[in-house]
Amino acid sequence: EKGAYPHYMLKEIDEQPAVMRRLLQEYSSTDGKITLDPTITNAINDADRIYIIACGTSYHAGLAGKHLLETVAGIPTEVHISSEFSYNMPLLSKKPLFIFISQSGETADSRAVLVKVKKLGYPTLTMTNVEGSTLYREADHKMLLFAGPEIAVASTKAYTAMIAVFAFMSVAAAQKKGTKLGFDLVHELSLAAQGMEQMIDEKAQLKEVAREYLSITRNAFYIGRALDYYVCMEAALKLKEVSYIQAEGFAGGELKHGTIALIEEGTPVFAYATQQKVNNSIRSNVEEVAARGAHTCIISMDGVTNQEDDRIVLPNVHPVLAPLVCAVPLQLIAYYAALQNECDVDKPRNLAKSVTVE
Ligand code: M6R
Repeated sequence: EKGAYPHYMLKEIDEQPAVMRRLLQEYSSTDGKITLDPTITNAINDADRIYIIACGTSYHAGLAGKHLLETVAGIPTEVHISSEFSYNMPLLSKKPLFIFISQSGETADSRAVLVKVKKLGYPTLTMTNVEGSTLYREADHKMLLFAGPEIAVASTKAYTAMIAVFAFMSVAAAQKKGTKLGFDLVHELSLAAQGMEQMIDEKAQLKEVAREYLSITRNAFYIGRALDYYVCMEAALKLKEVSYIQAEGFAGGELKHGTIALIEEGTPVFAYATQQKVNNSIRSNVEEVAARGAHTCIISMDGVTNQEDDRIVLPNVHPVLAPLVCAVPLQLIAYYAALQNECDVDKPRNLAKSVTVE
């Protein structure tokens, strides 16, 4: 039930901090230890390479998952779009583990890959929000998202839950191998939940950003580098599907290799700048587009990358968890842009909640 909320999408965005806290209960103990099924930790550590398979928003969560698995757990990871995998199948490593990510657990494109790799005899793990769904039942290992029912067609809380579950998975795998981590995930994830809450409380500011940047435009760009680039891909998808504004998520450095030709006076360009190591470079990309007339909006992180005049400053969280706090403004900006355009926010045209045909 959406209760006092005008739309499920808004309710589900607001629920995200609570989902993070639920995940902390499910995947850690009261004394702060990560509690992952040891067969899953072993399956991850036994793999010489992980292949993440997913569609849409889940694919974007998979990209953040790759970053976590590689930087925290040290396991080479590839992310593939389910529908491409069958005919664009990469040369597989000797001991692959396939991870399927799906909110619904019913996505036909992902299931087709699951069936195929099971036939080849490879181990599989499904991360889903729906216990008992097809992808849940058919995989060797399962991890639940505990996000509660997601009704709006646009995926919001499942996206952030997926990233958090990847964090638990990566930290558990690293700890089992005896890797010394410089951070305490339980503490950092609690801070991220607080940070998300803070952004949710700043709805009025995000509504104003949507009004200022997106009320008369037909297109928009999101740019970012490193982990922020993956966030930009999700930001563009969310904006497109609910507001019907044509949007692209771009790697900051790639824009000048062609697409910058589209920038004209007033074109909205949102830049995520949360990662210190790429802060200078993304800011010079912002200058490049601003010099060509773009209406730029910088979203940075407090105490890491923020500078005077940045339009949105996110609360400080651990850099690998940045996508969690980044998610809130991208979702709310898309939501308010959809309202401005009088779109059917919870049920955008031409879309279904689960895509059960290939
Ligand atoms: O249920 P799934 O996670 O497998 O669904 C995958 C995509 O269809 C889904 O994320 C879609 O892109 C959403 N509408 C995005 O908001």
